[in-house]
Amino acid sequence: MAEPTAHPPTRVPAPHDAPPRRVLVAYATRHGSTREVAETIATTLQEHGERVDLRAAADCHDLSAYRAIVLGGALYMGRWHRDARTFLRRHSPTLQTRPIAIFAMGPQSMDERSVRGARRQLDNALRRFRDLDPMAVTIFGGVIDPADLRFPFNRMKASDARDWDTIRAWATELTSRLAASNAPTADGPEPG
Ligand SMILES: Cc1cc2nc3c(=O)[nH]c(=O)nc-3n(C[C@H](O)[C@H](O)[C@H](O)COP(=O)(O)O)c2cc1C
Repeated sequence: MAEPTAHPPTRVPAPHDAPPRRVLVAYATRHGSTREVAETIATTLQEHGERVDLRAAADCHDLSAYRAIVLGGALYMGRWHRDARTFLRRHSPTLQTRPIAIFAMGPQSMDERSVRGARRQLDNALRRFRDLDPMAVTIFGGVIDPADLRFPFNRMKASDARDWDTIRAWATELTSRLAASNAPTADGPEPG
């Protein structure tokens, strides 16, 4: 009887052999406007050929599948949303090996003074993360919907200072920076 043909062993690459190829867009919101901005950023990145996951920051447990991260959070009473800060703390070691872009919302108008004030609040939050070196940091205008708010905040004037063209342009700029960085490109097969 003939000897059975010996096949060379098939090597199944371990997931950690493959470079991470997806981009994570994580958001921290109370009333939903930050999630809507994150959605637009995710869609814009996809339109530029990126594979994107969109998730609440509190639901992100493992960043190893991502080659880059976008993190956005709302500002409330001078503080960046707790889930955004927790995200940076929890994932600090991984974030030192991945490009990260950060945004916060949101002043009620995009006049220079309001934006500067919001930026100061965001910078105060980021200052605690000494090892963090974001490739981009920005402020987007916010949304006030008094129907969503309790007294006395339900007396605030309704407003929506989001500028969708600016938001899409920022996301488009990120794709250029990612392409220029050493991060692996979005081309190529999905890791196994
Ligand atoms: C009670 C309250 C406090 C706020 N405090 C700040 C603030 O300190 N700085 C700021 O830029 N925006 C502030 N905002 C605006 C919010 O950041 C803005 O409404 C944002 O769009 C909310 O995001 P969300 O819908 O994702 O929760 C505040 C809004 C409310 C209702």
